Amino acid sequence: MAILDILKLPDSRLKQVSQPVTQFDAALQHFIADLEATRQAGPSAVGIAAPQVACFQRMVIVDVSGRPKTPNHGYLVLINPEIVHWEGHAIGREGCLSVPDYTGNVIRATAIRLRAQDCDGQLHEFEMEGYEARAVQHEMDHLDGLLFVDRVVSRRTDLYRRKSARLD
Ligand code: NI
Repeated sequence: MAILDILKLPDSRLKQVSQPVTQFDAALQHFIADLEATRQAGPSAVGIAAPQVACFQRMVIVDVSGRPKTPNHGYLVLINPEIVHWEGHAIGREGCLSVPDYTGNVIRATAIRLRAQDCDGQLHEFEMEGYEARAVQHEMDHLDGLLFVDRVVSRRTDLYRRKSARLD
C-alpha cells in the first residue's frame, strides 16, 4: 500500500468536480486500500475523499466509529454516493486534511438517507444521523469541488486557526 500526497489549499484542483465511478475492478480495490492507508497515516481524520489525493472520481471513505457515543455504520467505502433525503440542520465544527491550519463552523443536515455503491458495485441505502451524517456531507462536498471553508457561516467569525496539530 502507498501513502498518497494530500492536496491542500490553495491548490485549485480541490475545486474540480469528480466523475462517477464506472469500473469496479482490482485497480479500484487497490486505490481504496491506498486511500484508507493515507487517511490513517495522517492526523486522525474521520473521512477522506478521492479528489483530496488528486483522483477525481466519486469515492469517499468515512469511519466515525472511533468517536464515543456516536451512532455509526463503522468503516464505509461510499462510491457514487447520493443523498436522497435530508432532515433538520445544525451547526458544528469541522476540520479537513486539505485545510490543515483551520477549523470552522458549518451548517449541515442532522439526518440523511444515503444511497451508495460499495467496492463491488453493490448498491446500499443508509439512514444516518449526527456526526456520521455530517462527515458524509463534508466528504461528499469534496466530490463537487467544495471545502468547508466555502460553507462557513462567516469567514470572519466562524473560522478558527488551529493552536497546534489538528485533532479531529
Ligand atoms: Ni475534508
